[in-house]
Amino acid sequence: MRSRRFFIETWGCQMNELDSQRMAGQLMEQGLLPTRAVEEADILLLNSCSVRENAENKVFSRIGEYRDLKRDRPGMMIGLCGCVAQQVGQRALDRVPDLDFVLGPGRVGELRETLAARAAGRRLAHVGFPEEKHYEIDTIARDGEYKGMVTIIEGCNKKCTFCIVPTTRGPERSRPLATILEEVRHLVDYGFVEIELLGQTVNHWREPGGSEDFADLLDAVARTPGVRRLRFVTSYPRDFTPRMVEQIGLHPNIVPYLHLPVQSGSDSVLRRMARGYTIGGYLDLVDRLRATRPDLALSTDLIVGFPGETEGEFAETLALVERVRFAQIYAFKYSPRPGTAAPRLPDPVQPEIAGRRLQQIFAAQEGIQRSLNGDLVGRDLQVLVTGWGREAGTQTGRTSCNRVIHFSAGSPAPSLGELVDVRVAKALPHSLIGRLTNAPEASREPLSARFPILAESNR
Ligand code: SAH
Ligand code: F3S
Repeated sequence: MRSRRFFIETWGCQMNELDSQRMAGQLMEQGLLPTRAVEEADILLLNSCSVRENAENKVFSRIGEYRDLKRDRPGMMIGLCGCVAQQVGQRALDRVPDLDFVLGPGRVGELRETLAARAAGRRLAHVGFPEEKHYEIDTIARDGEYKGMVTIIEGCNKKCTFCIVPTTRGPERSRPLATILEEVRHLVDYGFVEIELLGQTVNHWREPGGSEDFADLLDAVARTPGVRRLRFVTSYPRDFTPRMVEQIGLHPNIVPYLHLPVQSGSDSVLRRMARGYTIGGYLDLVDRLRATRPDLALSTDLIVGFPGETEGEFAETLALVERVRFAQIYAFKYSPRPGTAAPRLPDPVQPEIAGRRLQQIFAAQEGIQRSLNGDLVGRDLQVLVTGWGREAGTQTGRTSCNRVIHFSAGSPAPSLGELVDVRVAKALPHSLIGRLTNAPEASREPLSARFPILAESNR
């Protein structure tokens, strides 16, 4: 008998990535196998993002494309998951008759029940944020770049005036430290060398009913034996305390890379965004972080064309980019979102002007990145081997400062998931090219030895 297959398409942030792994795990537990060919799928899940309007439109046009597949495959189910699911709910079922169910981010752990209901003839819009959440660390189909992701805090209580996330991911809830450490140990036992802690405002984590904060949590995770690399995303500038900065200096396994969204270089725009910090405060934090960890690579998010943004305010953002010299930026045109406050602000910026500003940011950043990457030539960087390159005999990996690096694989080639040293030979704006300088550590059994399928599927 042909085995049943599933296909999951994922948009958006790391939280969606992890939710997709959780859904894949539940499906595999029920005996379904993943497929890379959507035409083969019996269950098709679209894990959507709604942070910008474009992302939301994409998922609906995709449902339109996929529903034709249903004609040739009786019994095939299509589910809308992720942030659009939470936002649109029942209306998606009304709008698209071919859609079988809607499953919000707070209900990821209830996929089985939702599928069973559909099999029994019911089309559920399963959304909202239950008090008691199903979160089974054993049924997560971990995949990707040898990085084990661990949610430490869900939802968001901030009310940035542009942002839909508090609506789609619900109120802030911290997971207990003991549960987090249990999951970290589980990942290390499984063979992951890199742990990534996740949250919308990851550094706002607090022990439920206790006094520990993110500094304590960082300390505890960094001390966990086997955690070779520790990263976390996303930090909120205002929530950084001196103790947290100190932890970043204390633990060499905390990577020298930090994503610290600033959104704008102008205090007046930050006020309209209700971000609760000033550029002075942000720069002060950057200085303290760099004093603690001189090799720290910073990345950021920027929004251009926020309502009322003047040429002068935009120039302040450009000046900030030039001043901080981020290793990477994620810049977006402002997109009005339902249920947020910003669309009611006066003086919207014309899309052409916002588009031109975005290009200006990218142009400035290109030069900065080229020069920062150029500074790395000749240096030895620790690299996590994540895949095979397009050219024979080459591999790709991620440096601890989160840059993509291509290098000759050596002989024997290090296994995927291994940490190696690579000397940078050449810098491009978006990646590095290098040469292996050490053999992989013999002491550690490579991940691909224990899980041969990992080596297979990445070749
Ligand atoms: N706390 C999360 C925020 C999620 S949204 C994090 O920092 O990862 C991710 C980024 O999308 C934000 O930092 C912001 O730069 C961008 N973004 C959010 N809402 C937006 C909107 N309405 N228009 C354009 N960009 C937006
Ligand atoms: Fe969004 Fe601001 Fe929270 S950007 S996720 S409301 S911190």
